[in-house]
Amino acid sequence: MVRIIVPPDKSISHRAVIFSSLAKGRVEINNFLFAEDCLSTISVLKSLGIQITTFSNKRKVVVLGKGKFSFSPPKKALYAGNSGTTMRIMMGVLAGQGFESVLDGDQSLRSRPMNRVIRPLEKMGAKIESKEGYPPVRILPAKLKGAKIESQIASAQVKSAILLAGLHADGRTHYREFITSRDHTERMLRLFGVKVRRYNGFLIVDGKMSLQSPSTLFVPGDISSGSFFISYGLLKTGSKLVLQQVGLNPTRIGILRVIKRMGGHIRIVERVNSTEPYGNIVVKSSNLKGIRIKREEIASLIDELPIIAVMAAFAKGRTYIEAVDELRVKECDRVEAIRYNLARFGVDVRIIEKKGRTDLEIWGTSKFSQPKSIRTWSDHRISMAFAIMLAVLGMDLDVVDDKNCVGISYPEFWDTLNAVSKGENYGC
Ligand code: S3P
Repeated sequence: MVRIIVPPDKSISHRAVIFSSLAKGRVEINNFLFAEDCLSTISVLKSLGIQITTFSNKRKVVVLGKGKFSFSPPKKALYAGNSGTTMRIMMGVLAGQGFESVLDGDQSLRSRPMNRVIRPLEKMGAKIESKEGYPPVRILPAKLKGAKIESQIASAQVKSAILLAGLHADGRTHYREFITSRDHTERMLRLFGVKVRRYNGFLIVDGKMSLQSPSTLFVPGDISSGSFFISYGLLKTGSKLVLQQVGLNPTRIGILRVIKRMGGHIRIVERVNSTEPYGNIVVKSSNLKGIRIKREEIASLIDELPIIAVMAAFAKGRTYIEAVDELRVKECDRVEAIRYNLARFGVDVRIIEKKGRTDLEIWGTSKFSQPKSIRTWSDHRISMAFAIMLAVLGMDLDVVDDKNCVGISYPEFWDTLNAVSKGENYGC
């Protein structure tokens, strides 16, 4: 049995440093993710005058927050790198600060839509300029007021931006999404002493509330990063893997439900129930079967779709995934990236556009061709998903055109894959 530690959760790490910066007092964050995206968030917060000390060898960060309105105006544009979470959540934080700021990012981030955050923030009185809805975004000083916002998109980034803007607004902010997205923000706000009420499907925050330091905070392992090795364990004949201390937040574990329906042998042991539940995940090689993944499930497994598509390629029969539209606007167009790369292996894969919706159909096979190259579009999750596929098939990993991009969320990915392929433990 091979045991591995997966990296700390990216979504929770971002929120941990942001919320700690908004709280009064010292917060020690343990098991913080030292990967490019979360380092972008730290760098943005430091440019806003927040004192943050990092201890990368201990995976620890110490933040000295000074309260909600204590940020200093930045001297230059704030650079969010590749990180949509940094940019969108920070827009919510900055909209009501009362000074001007500019948020920018790399080429990929500059092609990601921001109107989904700009429009509701404008409803709260924010003044934001952008390049027709794309970064860079310029946030002008404005006084915010509470508003009632209903979102058609199931997005935790949008929800988090609005709830945080609501804490900088006069009055109450109501927010409702038609499908629940990951709820790390709601859980963490409560940990910081902020009452997030629920009424009639709306989340409600009051601008009078302030955040209080919880002193320490623990970030569990990232189920999204873990999914790559969960899939390896299921697909590689004869393997049995244990992933330790992986986050099991119910709004994130759609992939576990999908794997069970596909017939995968997976179980959870040593579960710990805290603000963010976590536990050990045990998987062993399984014969998978194709299934239908419904539109309502997508938000709970959005980042796992590239690796689910890889599993579908090995499953018996057809896998049909409804409403993958949001994948088009991730770090790259992941719908096209999945289609393009699966087709390189000779997999029968189809994008189906109907009724204004994008679905994905994948037929499992046992005959794969050796791709000449894997095109990643420098997207970390595309790089890792197809690396797993190559490793399961015993094919050359050097065909991946960008191996470095895994540093966005999983700097130790290649070392972990190397260890696991040799039947060795990693990180424990
Ligand atoms: C994230 C939310 C999701 C997810 C992203 C991280 C977050 O994006 O895809 O990787 O931390 O809030 P959306 O909110 O756009 O769905």
